[in-house]
Amino acid sequence: MCLIYIFGALVITSGVFCQGTAALQPAVRDLFVAVGSSVKIPCTDGEEKGVEWRFNSSVLVSSPVISIQNASLKDQGIYTCQKQTGDVVQSVSLHLGYPPSPPHVHCWSPSYPKRAICSWTLTSDPILPTQYIATYRNFSDPVSSARQCQKWGDQDRQCALEELEIFAREPTLINITAVNALGSATQIQPFIFEQIVKPDPPENVSGIIMPGRKVSVQWSPPHTWPDPVNFLLKYKVRFHWGKPETARTLGPYESNKMVLSGLVAGRTYYIQISAKDILDDGQSSEWSAPIHITIPTILYLK
Ligand SMILES: *[C@@H]1O[C@H](CO)[C@@H](O)[C@H](O)[C@H]1NC(C)=O
Ligand SMILES: *[C@@H]1O[C@H](CO)[C@@H](O)[C@H](O)[C@H]1NC(C)=O
Ligand SMILES: *[C@@H]1O[C@H](CO)[C@@H](O)[C@H](O)[C@H]1NC(C)=O
Ligand SMILES: *[C@@H]1O[C@H](CO)[C@@H](O)[C@H](O)[C@H]1NC(C)=O
Ligand SMILES: *[C@@H]1O[C@H](CO)[C@@H](O)[C@H](O)[C@H]1NC(C)=O
Repeated sequence: MCLIYIFGALVITSGVFCQGTAALQPAVRDLFVAVGSSVKIPCTDGEEKGVEWRFNSSVLVSSPVISIQNASLKDQGIYTCQKQTGDVVQSVSLHLGYPPSPPHVHCWSPSYPKRAICSWTLTSDPILPTQYIATYRNFSDPVSSARQCQKWGDQDRQCALEELEIFAREPTLINITAVNALGSATQIQPFIFEQIVKPDPPENVSGIIMPGRKVSVQWSPPHTWPDPVNFLLKYKVRFHWGKPETARTLGPYESNKMVLSGLVAGRTYYIQISAKDILDDGQSSEWSAPIHITIPTILYLK
């Protein structure tokens, strides 16, 4: 058995790693400590004489107890307690970090009414490996009825909420709990599905030059919007000729095309589209990447 003091609390660990019998290399034990705290690591529970602690294999102290005040990141490494015979009594890998801070959560629905997505960040890096538990439930349902929010995409801190009730009378609660070896922190965030609708930008934007210095602009709804037939989108068109301050926004349009007119020969126009739920729920999409079209100066060929 060996005794370890962490934050002034006494932790008794199993003896397996501490009583290193001769010639048998004990496994390296991981020890997680908060930056700024004090750590004491006794070598054994007995009055061991003639043992020394090594840090990353250089001798640190000839004493059975190692004591670190105000631990900092540079104290990270492998601490090994050895007898004079060279037998290793125990090896500790010290990891420094912080308990997680409550996640900052952002939810939106690019796929209404099929799913919403929540992503989150921590305001400061806990340095240590941190896991996340993400669940959601109806506001007045018990905590025990919460469902797992499934990991979404290749991002570590993003999950998808499926089968949400539409036009629900009470909010959905998402619970993101960050957990690491030093602690946990929870953020509970309420939202109403319709209020977080935010389509992705429209796709396949194209423009065709027409006689009379006009451009016919067409686009497709974002492919992530699951049902553009029953859940219609409306669109705005923004265009400018080189300088963003010349931008004009037209619309909304309920169809997937429109004609820009009154354009000036020789100018290059930059055109972007954004989409919004037709009932005005939530937010508009970001603008699509601009396409550009130059109005020819020679309009009439003989
Ligand atoms: C602990 O270390 C940090 C950084 O090395 C220092 O800023 C701080 O004042 C120290 N705190 C104490 C209580 O010694
Ligand atoms: C000790 O070893 C650890 C892990 O190998 C390394 O990250 C750290 O920089 C080393 N520290 C010193 C002071 O050599
Ligand atoms: C919320 O309640 C509705 C209606 O009872 C139900 O259909 C839905 O599955 C519940 N949502 C969650 C996340 O439990
Ligand atoms: C949030 O999730 C954590 C981890 O699953 C759980 O322990 C906690 O009870 C939940 N809190 C609420 C209010 O849902
Ligand atoms: C955009 O165009 C590509 C190629 O023509 C097509 O495969 C894709 O389905 C279109 N996207 C949408 C949302 O219509």
